[in-house]
Amino acid sequence: MADSFLTKIINGAKNADAAVHEAAEILKSGEVCALPTETVYGLAANAYDEKAVSKIFEAKGRPQDNPLICHISNLSMLEEIAADIPSCAYKLAEKFWSGPLSMVFKKTDKIPERVSGGLDTVAVRMPDNSLIKSVISECGFPLAAPSANVSGRPSPTCAEDVYFDLNGKIPLIIDGGECKVGVESTVIDVTGSVPVILRPGEITADMIANITGSVKIHEGLKDVKETPPSPGMKYRHYSPNTRIITYAGEKNAVAKTIMSRYYLYKDKAAVICGSEIRDLFKGVRVIDLGESKKSAQQKLFAALRLTDRLSLKEAFFCYEDYMGEAVLNRITKASAEIIVV
Ligand code: TXA
Ligand code: MG
Repeated sequence: MADSFLTKIINGAKNADAAVHEAAEILKSGEVCALPTETVYGLAANAYDEKAVSKIFEAKGRPQDNPLICHISNLSMLEEIAADIPSCAYKLAEKFWSGPLSMVFKKTDKIPERVSGGLDTVAVRMPDNSLIKSVISECGFPLAAPSANVSGRPSPTCAEDVYFDLNGKIPLIIDGGECKVGVESTVIDVTGSVPVILRPGEITADMIANITGSVKIHEGLKDVKETPPSPGMKYRHYSPNTRIITYAGEKNAVAKTIMSRYYLYKDKAAVICGSEIRDLFKGVRVIDLGESKKSAQQKLFAALRLTDRLSLKEAFFCYEDYMGEAVLNRITKASAEIIVV
């Protein structure tokens, strides 16, 4: 990159007003800024300013045709950027906004093609984090923001992870501490008669169906689950440099299989698993994801990033059903191999 920035980090917990003001000024001047949300950190720019939005793609190395989510702070912003808003979307917004749900609508002319990746739709969400919401309100425009990682890497769930990926490429990071959800928002398409889930997240199909009566899951998602992807698969994503191998099945059989492979790598390997089975891995480096779906989601990306920080060759991820759809979707994409024991 020709221009390189000295990336500044401001602690949003210590002085929220100053942090919000500085972020808003940067964004109003047509620059990008990394901001915390409850899911993962986002790399934000003025959604109405194509030039500013281009800087997001440049900093991340993001493919041009991958559309961005627009972040809003009130429903009148939604009505500015989305057309033909169905009544079910208002119901979902009432229940889940502010929160980890993105809805895809027909877009208005206010949204440039740069944001929609050439589609005639736009994804919108109202994040549940007071810092980014105040920044959006002070700016007065929606913020286009993908996850603030270099494209292909795990999403960042703390300011240090953003810095690691984007230091020297962006002017400012607002540090809002660790993200409480840890996986990106559920994305649903509400342009048809029945909402369709495009990306699983903390808001599940059942939670959506409770409000809308029905919901579909996109065929592409079912494929990923039913036909485990092969090595070098097209969908590889969220990946550290460490080779991630995911195991599923009866826990003792999984542990036995992993242990036999672990010793090929010794100090260059780790097991990533839930607390309840960590004792099956004696004398082994374990990265613990806790014992609930919530903690597995929250710790997932940090665990993947830790494997790189430790310069590991391989990490063995033990998937268990309680971890849920959102974790399964991310780990499937991050893994070089999936082995059902
Ligand atoms: O939680 C989140 O959603 C985070 C935080 C920062 O808000 N953002 C995020 O953005 O994960 P990103 O760009 O990493 O992922 C956005 C996803 C992509 O899979 C993209 O293809 C999809 O949403 N998407 C965006 N606009 C879309 C549209 N108009 N139609 C279909 N999919 C869309
Ligand atoms: Mg992303």
